[in-house]
Amino acid sequence: MANQAAKDGGTISRDRLAELLNEDLAREYQAIIAYVVYSQVLKGAEYMSIAEQLELHAKQELDHAITIARQIDYLGKMPSVTPKPVKTSDKATEMLRFDLNNENDTVRNYRERIRQCEALGEFAMAEQIRQILVQEQDHQIDLATALGEDVPNMSDA
Ligand SMILES: [Fe+2]
Ligand SMILES: [Fe+2]
Repeated sequence: MANQAAKDGGTISRDRLAELLNEDLAREYQAIIAYVVYSQVLKGAEYMSIAEQLELHAKQELDHAITIARQIDYLGKMPSVTPKPVKTSDKATEMLRFDLNNENDTVRNYRERIRQCEALGEFAMAEQIRQILVQEQDHQIDLATALGEDVPNMSDA
């Protein structure tokens, strides 16, 4: 059940925002690790173009991690150093599925984070996260396309 206050951009403290950004940072670390590994171990001619895209994702996720860490520091808190757990599989479709699920989660969280930043008057931070969100949605599209699916409808997120 989504937290309605957070969903509406309701009032949260700057400390709580920093905590949530640390969760985002842990997801970025997770994404870096997953994309570094999956981009190299995906096998099969049909996966070569997505493997190249995953390498690009890895680099973009590193940029996101740096941007998020900067926001946490700006809020006077210490950026976390621990990634969320990374799942492994020897099946290409499972790897892509893990990535897509994580990106869905990431998109859901950043949408909420933008509302929370705006509720706190942190408009520049909201803008930085919007720019990250644009790339995360591209990642969703790349993965869904590789899986031969439509991008999940996140409009209620
Ligand atoms: Fe990211
Ligand atoms: Fe991503």
